[in-house]
Amino acid sequence: MSLTGTISTNSTNSTQAILRDAFTQCRQTTLKQFAELDEAALCCQSHPEFSPAGWHLGHIGFTEELWLLRHLAGTSPMQPQFHRLYAADGLPKTERVKLPSFEDICDYLQRVRDEVFNYLEIAPLEKQKNLWWFILQHESQHSETVALVLQQQNLSALPFSKSGSNSRLEFDSVTVPGGEFEMGNDGVEAADNERPRHRRVVEEFEIDRYPVTCGQYRQFIEVGGYDNSQYWSDSGWCWIRENGISTPLYWTNDPEFDNYPVCGVSWYEANAYAKFVGKRLPTEAEWEKAARWNPQTGDSQVYPWGNDFPDASRCNHRLFNRGTTSVDAYPDGVSSVGCWDMLGNVWEWTTTIFDGYSGFEFFPYKGYSQDYFDGEHYVLRGGSWATRPWALRSAFRNWYYPHIRQIFAGFRLCNL
Ligand code: AVJ
Ligand code: FE
Repeated sequence: MSLTGTISTNSTNSTQAILRDAFTQCRQTTLKQFAELDEAALCCQSHPEFSPAGWHLGHIGFTEELWLLRHLAGTSPMQPQFHRLYAADGLPKTERVKLPSFEDICDYLQRVRDEVFNYLEIAPLEKQKNLWWFILQHESQHSETVALVLQQQNLSALPFSKSGSNSRLEFDSVTVPGGEFEMGNDGVEAADNERPRHRRVVEEFEIDRYPVTCGQYRQFIEVGGYDNSQYWSDSGWCWIRENGISTPLYWTNDPEFDNYPVCGVSWYEANAYAKFVGKRLPTEAEWEKAARWNPQTGDSQVYPWGNDFPDASRCNHRLFNRGTTSVDAYPDGVSSVGCWDMLGNVWEWTTTIFDGYSGFEFFPYKGYSQDYFDGEHYVLRGGSWATRPWALRSAFRNWYYPHIRQIFAGFRLCNL
């Protein structure tokens, strides 16, 4: 089923049914992640940048209530004290550790969801649908964060799936001709930072067919790449020294995983490895062109493979594999120019600082994207094995500080 095809339909009935179905499916995967957690794990803050898993769950419900019930349906707050606890501008991240019980959080989520589905029956979706899609993607993104927060609490269980291949890969690159392509997204599902869709000129470039693998990256470790300042920027060198970093966060020397992408690297490490091999990270425009531009038609597709909504055959996402897979595992997901694994598996760092495209307008609030146009966040593209399909597409932009390595991030390189 094509995403653009289904959501551009004029029939309110089917928009309603599609939203109800997607909200329900998304929630099932969210809750499944909490199945075997005790209360301590729910409230544990594993890293100052990331709130406890239980906070994310409450914040998912709070945000859904705020925008779909209070803002659209005009209801008053179910629990006024939840603003301080669960709003993004409420408690500082380090104070989000005293939370209601798991049962109470789930009750709240269900009460919100029941009212949301009642309202969905009568809601004027034609003028509201952007906000409904926003809320679906908001839960999608926070539940990916839950996956990485839980990963920090159990770092001994590495996120490598057992279903990889051991074939010998040819690590070549593809040449993408210079010229204009359509960048960004004006679809109903587009986040504010993907808008407006616009024509962008990109010079010819050569980009790797695959993300950098563990087997390739091991050479950098073995020759002492982490002990040699020549590969590192000043800030990157300070960061690895201060934090005693000598491998990616999710790392194994088991050759069984040589064809898996490097996962758990900071932007600094991606750049150091690039320098080691005499290459560079792509810009986000290059990345997007390699992912979606179809040289035959000149069009930009929603996904590397075309416009069909992601499923298990296209790429490693949605927790299907509970970890990364080898970079050649998805022949049905290859992009028109010949890049593998552009969506899913690992997020890919780019060299671009996060900013609004020309004509940017915030939606639905400044704190979603605009507050991060501070020159300190770098754009990641492509999604990971934990990304939900509603937040997975070639135009989707993610952003983090360059020292963050807890996310499921790797990288792919361009030739100089
Ligand atoms: C884009 C993943 C960095 O989790 O902070 C969630 C997404 N924004 N709620 C984040 C987001 C508001 C954001 N990231
Ligand atoms: Fe949020």
